[in-house]
Amino acid sequence: MARAKVTVVGAGNVGATCAQVLAARDYADVVLVDIKEGLPQGKALDIAQMGAVLGFEPALVGSNGYDETAGSDVVVVTAGLPRSPGMSRDDLVTTNEKIVKDVTQAVVAASPDAVLVVVSNPLDAMCHVAKNVSGWPKERVFGMAGILDTARFATFIAWETGSSVKDVTATVLGGHGDQMVPVVSATTVGGVPLRKLVPAGRIAAMVERTAKGGGEIVNLLGTSAWYAPGAAAAQMVDAIVLDEKRVLPCTAYLEGEYGIEGLYMGVPVKLGAGGVEQVIELQLGDEERKALEDSAAAVREVVSVLST
Ligand code: NAI
Ligand code: 2OP
Repeated sequence: MARAKVTVVGAGNVGATCAQVLAARDYADVVLVDIKEGLPQGKALDIAQMGAVLGFEPALVGSNGYDETAGSDVVVVTAGLPRSPGMSRDDLVTTNEKIVKDVTQAVVAASPDAVLVVVSNPLDAMCHVAKNVSGWPKERVFGMAGILDTARFATFIAWETGSSVKDVTATVLGGHGDQMVPVVSATTVGGVPLRKLVPAGRIAAMVERTAKGGGEIVNLLGTSAWYAPGAAAAQMVDAIVLDEKRVLPCTAYLEGEYGIEGLYMGVPVKLGAGGVEQVIELQLGDEERKALEDSAAAVREVVSVLST
């Protein structure tokens, strides 16, 4: 059976990390694309040679065009500027709108049946751009943010409780901005509700740190995170290509779910070969529902400045 083909557009920090994680999984051929000459070719070669050390097949190519990407099953879009200190994700909107538009047009031409996973920021708005430009159904155009935001929350909870992160179950909903909504009511450690394990003040501090988790890393590094984001995008590719039916928080187009109409927002979805196969509706507390509405309003504001 032919291996699946996955294209990652943008061979910068996030894209190269995603390609590296996917290559190590060894179930797909990976094409890395970037406008910078030499960059995708060099990184693809380096990652391919890593296969000889770690024991995966060297099935990667780098390219400055889309011929090699033709017929991809999944395309991950990481092309675009990252944040610098002092910038919000929303400050990137004008520059990255143009980049995501150009990339989406090229992807549609080369791989008309692909599933598109958007990573470029501001994430929720860039999903709108990709959907509008591609004209593809919502099931095949969605974004990565919730897995990353949830991973941050779970990490802080594991440290706070001295538990394995593997036993933390958490979900972060909403837009990928400082108003994201860690759902404390649905968070457990080994099946025990977080609120029974950690005092309210400490939970509030972890919620705050999660919501500002991207900015914390930007302040440390001078640019945005890439290891966890790259791995998070790769986890979505796994779920799609391997038809895993995983329930993962992703940025999906809502048409009435959670009372939100016509907007991309982070919600739990069932991910499989068809892309977003179902939006899962959690029971939210009153405060969480209100926080989700506030987050939706913040996303709508960014979406309103798009020209696409
Ligand atoms: P980076 O600067 O390391 O890489 C971006 C790459 O995109 C560069 O190599 C650049 O040459 C390339 N590029 C620019 N225009 C292009 C085009 N038209 N076609 C192909 N490639 C193009 O940035 P990094 O750190 O990899 O971040 C990428 C994007 O992902 C940023 O917008 C960042 O804010 C976003 N991001 C989103 C996250 C999320 O949770 N959704 C998490 C982390 C980053
Ligand atoms: C992050 O959350 C900047 O969106 C990026 O790390």
